[in-house]
Amino acid sequence: MAVNYFSKILGTTLIVLVVGSALIRAMPPPNPFQCNQTGCILYNAYGVWDDRKTCHVTTVVYPTTEEELRSAVANANKNKLKVKVVSKFSHTITKLACPTAGNENAVLISTERYNSSIAVDVASLAVTVDAGVGLRPLIDRVEEEGLSLVAATYWEGVSVGGAVSTGAHGSSWWGKGGAIHDHLIGVRLIVPANASEGFARVLDLKGDDPLLDAARVSLGVLGVTLSLQREFKRIIALNFTNDKDIEDEFMEHGKRYEFGDIQWYPSRYVAVYRYDDRLPLNTSGDGVFDFIGFRPILAVIPQTVRALEKAAEATKSVEAKCILATLSIAFRKLIANGLKNNNYFFTGYPVIGHQGKMQTAGSCLYSPPTDKYSACVWDPRIKGLFFYESSVILTASTFANFIRDVKKLRDMNPKSFCGVDMYDGQPEDSVAVDFNYYRADDASTPRLNGDVWEEVEQMAFFKYSGKPHWAKNRKLAFVGVQNKYPNYSKFVGAKNDLDPDNMFSSKWSDEVLMLGQEGEGVKEDGCALEGQCVCSEDRHCSPGKGYFCRRGLVYKEARGSDMNMDVASSSATTLASNVRAHFDSAIASPRMCIDLEMLAAGQDGAPPICGINSRVGKTGPSSEFVKEGKYTDLAL
Ligand SMILES: *[C@@H]1O[C@H](CO)[C@@H](O)[C@H](O)[C@H]1NC(C)=O
Ligand SMILES: *[C@@H]1O[C@H](CO)[C@@H](O)[C@H](O)[C@H]1NC(C)=O
Ligand SMILES: *[C@@H]1O[C@H](CO)[C@@H](O)[C@H](O)[C@H]1NC(C)=O
Ligand SMILES: *[C@@H]1O[C@H](CO)[C@@H](O)[C@H](O)[C@H]1NC(C)=O
Ligand SMILES: *[C@@H]1O[C@H](CO)[C@@H](O)[C@H](O)[C@H]1NC(C)=O
Ligand SMILES: *[C@@H]1O[C@H](CO)[C@@H](O)[C@H](O)[C@H]1NC(C)=O
Repeated sequence: MAVNYFSKILGTTLIVLVVGSALIRAMPPPNPFQCNQTGCILYNAYGVWDDRKTCHVTTVVYPTTEEELRSAVANANKNKLKVKVVSKFSHTITKLACPTAGNENAVLISTERYNSSIAVDVASLAVTVDAGVGLRPLIDRVEEEGLSLVAATYWEGVSVGGAVSTGAHGSSWWGKGGAIHDHLIGVRLIVPANASEGFARVLDLKGDDPLLDAARVSLGVLGVTLSLQREFKRIIALNFTNDKDIEDEFMEHGKRYEFGDIQWYPSRYVAVYRYDDRLPLNTSGDGVFDFIGFRPILAVIPQTVRALEKAAEATKSVEAKCILATLSIAFRKLIANGLKNNNYFFTGYPVIGHQGKMQTAGSCLYSPPTDKYSACVWDPRIKGLFFYESSVILTASTFANFIRDVKKLRDMNPKSFCGVDMYDGQPEDSVAVDFNYYRADDASTPRLNGDVWEEVEQMAFFKYSGKPHWAKNRKLAFVGVQNKYPNYSKFVGAKNDLDPDNMFSSKWSDEVLMLGQEGEGVKEDGCALEGQCVCSEDRHCSPGKGYFCRRGLVYKEARGSDMNMDVASSSATTLASNVRAHFDSAIASPRMCIDLEMLAAGQDGAPPICGINSRVGKTGPSSEFVKEGKYTDLAL
């Protein structure tokens, strides 16, 4: 009966959504800084950092020219202040963008007003932009000249400097690849210098300068030059089908479609294949991909969905979560995820349109601040959706085994996956898998079926040695990260040369660089609930609420005295054992917070797994150096 109630409310909500979405305008996202006389606080776009602590800084400066930017860095260097660079968008979930841990003196350099220059060089197919330029103005400007940016993110609320330096990507294994930095041909950056050089100097790196690869890690990127191609169009169709064989089909899919990706709803046994290729510019078609997740939404809708999620969590109703998942898929199918054959409607597949309109979207970004009723769905001011975003990069050779493990876990308990989305897109050839899933309002509240996701997460990062996205993820994802990059020490070397006093380092980056060398540090009570640790004792979970630290259901096979793992690829096995060899009981013996009551129920009635969404995409063969040491100081 509770279930009926859920379907009814949701049905109504979705009708409102369908009817309403054409009319909506929205508040643009809030500025990431709030300052008063005593100082400033840096927020991210979701309003909450991974550790839920606030980020205090002394001041924010807004340089508008290269010289102002240089003197801001010089000033900080002279006064021994920590520095980070943040754009006006601020989407990082990790504390990457935060220079301090407490109340130390630190300065944030905002690139918000360093955004005036977009210089297109048509003859040499290149564009040079200031770091603070947003992706949308760049795309539009380049297309005015009959050129296209081949690789871009799906979400356009990022600055060019931020996107390059956090490894942001679309999905492609073709050509140079699907990450924006794969197309980087020059960079200007500011590094600290000694007093006789004025405390900061500008480096201009291009061509085969050996520092160019190192510079992609951006100790204060200020200008970026990207290669372009002649403008082209895209042809996209979506196939909502069952997820049988995705582990085998994805390789073929990745090779066959230049920009293809897969969206996977494991609990519903649904895969959405995106067939996505380029067409010549003279093909007719003026479609847009106004992606549903990035449209302005009436606040009441995410508020209702959130209320239902919370009710489902509170009553431990996995069925309700599964209804949410089913409805969400049905709705996406109905509106083709936001594809439109013209500016207004979806009339059928395929949809053909300009590269600049089909790759990147973000209509919730643009609105006068007076429209208070709608916003981007994650906007903290509307108290709507609140979720984790985990993103792992797996080699193509391990991906299939990872999917098989997830399916094994799913088949034991299909409904516990409802509510996690996966996205797939990186090569050695690699695959980037993104997961979105419910996060509770406060750190001490366990999530329904949280154990199932924790097991997937630990399999991805530890069993299969997946590399974490630097701007997403929960802290445990970074344990052992340095052992996953064979040339990591080289990266650290370059970083030390360019920034000997660690001006651009922070507690977060120091910890992440050290995680695994010294284990996870002090583990607080309840730390595993928010992914701040891997539990090793019950108190790291929530024994008072019935959650105890136990071993997983699938991954346990690879644990204990038997240290050999069933990973097909030998390179992955080697990497994984490197990771394990270097440290950490947590990895040799992964554990999650398990609700024993639910587990018991599962043994007789197969309780459900709902609440996981995922997308699987691919990115190009990025520079080895970047892959080895991607660690950066710009926030998206
Ligand atoms: C001023 O900012 C500090 C942190 O920077 C904060 O703790 C304090 O509450 C703020 N005061 C007001 C009046 O906003
Ligand atoms: C730079 O930012 C300002 C204010 O946000 C905006 O009005 C302007 O269009 C931006 N310039 C470019 C080239 O994007
Ligand atoms: C400052 O740095 C430059 C270049 O690295 C070096 O040649 C010079 O000797 C340094 N000066 C001092 C006073 O350290
Ligand atoms: C959708 O995908 C399934 C599985 O790959 C395939 O069998 C089917 O033919 C596809 N449908 C379309 C319309 O492409
Ligand atoms: C597009 O241009 C190519 C040559 O660049 C030509 O062969 C083709 O027929 C054109 N197609 C259309 C639909 O105009
Ligand atoms: C490490 O760096 C060296 C020299 O730059 C390079 O030849 C080698 O391919 C790198 N190793 C890996 C695994 O990328």
